[in-house]
Order: sequence, then structure tokens, then C-alpha cells
Amino acid sequence: MWGGRFAEGPAAVMREINASIPFDKRLWRQDIAGSRAHVAMLAEQGIVSAGDATLIADGLARVAAEYEADGVPEDMALEDIHMHVEHRLAELIGPVAGRLHTARSRNDQVATDFRLWVRDAIDAVDEGLAGLQRALVTRAEEHADSVMPGFTHLQSAQPVTLGHHLMAYFEMIHRDRSRFEDARARMNECPLGSAALAGTGFPIDREATAEALGFDRPTDNSLDAVSDRDFALDYLMAAATTAIHLSRLAEEFVLWASQPFGFVKLPDAYSTGSSIMPQKRNPDAAELVRGHAGRIVGAMTALTITMKGLPLAYSKDMQDDKPPVFEAHDLLALSIAAMTGMVETVTFRTDRMRAAAEAGFATATDLADWLVREAGIPFREAHHITGTVVKRAEADGVALDALPLAVLQAIDPRIDARVFAVLGIDASVAARTSHGGTAPDQVRQRIAEAKAAIGME
Ligand code: ARG
Repeated sequence: MWGGRFAEGPAAVMREINASIPFDKRLWRQDIAGSRAHVAMLAEQGIVSAGDATLIADGLARVAAEYEADGVPEDMALEDIHMHVEHRLAELIGPVAGRLHTARSRNDQVATDFRLWVRDAIDAVDEGLAGLQRALVTRAEEHADSVMPGFTHLQSAQPVTLGHHLMAYFEMIHRDRSRFEDARARMNECPLGSAALAGTGFPIDREATAEALGFDRPTDNSLDAVSDRDFALDYLMAAATTAIHLSRLAEEFVLWASQPFGFVKLPDAYSTGSSIMPQKRNPDAAELVRGHAGRIVGAMTALTITMKGLPLAYSKDMQDDKPPVFEAHDLLALSIAAMTGMVETVTFRTDRMRAAAEAGFATATDLADWLVREAGIPFREAHHITGTVVKRAEADGVALDALPLAVLQAIDPRIDARVFAVLGIDASVAARTSHGGTAPDQVRQRIAEAKAAIGME
């Protein structure tokens, strides 16, 4: 393809380091779609004849049918997917195939193909995340009243509901989807026609190819267009944030499935056994979601570092843009599917959650709040009195609401019997009625809004 100015062929290792076909064959559909749009435009503009354009378009359809049936062959000498398609086209239709590359370079071609691929990847991720949100909302609705300990520093802090806890992940996923949506909107400009770096003197119609490929408009600077990989970085950054969220949920499942917690029983379908310890039931799927997040963040890091020192315009380093994106996408798709399956089928042991919520003096804040509200005591002083009450309950080995009134009044005489109404965990969550709070009515309202937002029911 460029042998004209060379006397010798490439070294074997040159072929190997240069070839991207083992991974960029995943772009074949996008490559053929781009070529079909390009040749149709060339004919429309009178740059190639209508007859030649038809031959080329039909030939491209035949290449596509072959790849669909048999996969893409890998020939290191042909470097990349673009050369594979063009080479096979020439085998099928002869030298007229050589007209396809008029007013085009592999630089704008690969930038176009890859944008098309990432755009599809975003659509697939969005669909997967919507499914995860549906699973979260469904389980949250079942457990809008189930009380569990809420933690800070992983120490029992205040009671919350499991529904509220699950809806926290709904919110994270909602932001993730909006990040992907932003990225998609921003990337939807077509580089095709930027040619190698400077544009072309042929009278091409960039609006036409942009429109044919579903882009909103052509890109505005040819140098930028062939060397911009922001769309891939946007994808990876959104993927990394999403993976972090999945990993945090995975970590909670791992923790909750451990015997001392016992908050969940993970489904058989997402657990594995041990070859030596017969009692084992390991949360491997959750652990791998947690593990994959590291690799996804690694992929993001890889591409940011690949890009950071590149002068304008295209450099071959940029061929390395694809493996991290492909890897991150495959891992993310698997992680979303596994997480969705686990959320749908996990058994929540609400009895254990409730017992844990009752055990940690988690309503101490409610007692302090009561002293402020009912006895007019400044919060700092109320905090101190409550601390004394907790110390006493701990020493006696009882929950706050099991301390006799006489004991409470010995600590502070302003306490009266009405206090028992706020010391239970159900009263505690029911009292958290502020917007976004854990009160079951608040949570149910948020669930209703969430369902509407994702078009459920
Ligand atoms: N395989 C190349 C890539 O993925 C295509 C662009 C090659 N352009 C070039 N001038 N060598 O980046």
C-alpha cells in the first residue's frame, strides 16, 4: 500500500509491532459503513463515476457478508482492518477498488471508525445500566421499610432502611448514565474528510458523510479531528467512575455475605465453592466485579498516558488507543451484567440487619435530638448526656430503649417517659423525613420518581 518509495520490505518484527489487525478487526462493521458513506458521497460529488461507486459499494457489501459468515482473517502484512477491507475489495472487484481511498486517509478513517464503535459501546452500556437501575428500584421497593444499620467509618452510625441504601446506588448509576450521555453528545461529530491532517482539495461534502453515519455535524479542524481521542477518554473516564460504583456495591456484598455480618445470602448462581473446605460459599462474582474495576481504571490510565505527550497530528502511538477501550468495555459489560444478576437474586437477611441495627446504640442521635427538642438543651450538652447514657447501656449490656426510666433520670432528670418513643429503630428511621432522608415515606417517594425517570411502569 505504501511500498512505492521503499527498496526493502519490513523486518518480521516490524510487521508484528506495526500490525493492529489482531484487535482492530473489531472495527470491521464501522469501517465498512464509513467506506460506504464515503464512496456514495464521492459519486454524488462527481469525484468517482456512478458506475465505479456501485461496483465499490456492492463489493463492500460482499466483504461484509464474508466477514459476517467467516470472521475477519488476520494477515500481519496487511497491518490493520482498513487495509484488510480494501485488499479484499480489490480481490473481489479489481483495480477500481483503488478509487475508494480518494480524498481520505487512514487517519480520518480510523478516527471515524473508532467514534462509531465507541458510540455503539455507549448505547450498549446505557442499556445495561438501565437494567441495573430497574433491579435496584425493584429491590428497594421491597425493602422500603426494612431497617438496617447505616455506617460511617464502618461503625454503626444511625439506622437506615435497606431501600434507602439500595437507592443510593441508583443515584450513582443515574449520574453514570448521564456522564455517558454527555460523552456521546460531545463525540458525535464526524472526522471523515479531514484526510491525513490538512483536509483535501477534492470537492467533498462532509455534511453528507456526517449525516449518513448518524453524526450531528462534521468536525471543524482537520488537525484536531485526526488526533483527537477525547471521545475514547470520555468513554474510559465514565467507565472508570461506573466501575468504581459497581466495585463499592460488590464490596458491600462481599462484606455482607461474610458470616459475622450475615446480611445477605448470595445466590448459588453467583457463588463458588472451595475444593478443600466443603462449607464454603465464596462471593467470586462480586470479588471479580471489584477486581475488574482496577483493570478498567488501568485502561483509562493507559490511554491518558499514551496521549499526553503527542504533538499534532496523528502519531502511531494512537493505534494503542483501541486495546484499553475494548478491554474496559468488555469488563464493564460483564460487571454490569453480573451486578444486575446479583441484585435481582440476592437474599437479604432482614432479620440479621435489624438485629445489627438494634445492637449498635444507633439511636443515640435520636436521644440527643430529643433532649434538644423536648428539654431545650443545647445540642453539645445533649451530646454529652447521651454519651453518658450510651456508656451506661454498654456497661449493662442492654439497648438504649431497655434502660429503665429511673436510670435515665439519674443521668439527667429532664428525661421523661416520652423519650422511649424515639429510642426504637423504626421510630428513628421514620423521623428522618428531610428531603432525601431515610424515612420510608421519603424513600417511597424517591422510588416513584426514579421509576418515572427510567420509564418503569
Ligand atoms: N491502524 C492505524 C491506527 O489504528 C490506522 C491509521 C494509520 N495511519 C497511518 N498514517 N499509519 O491508528
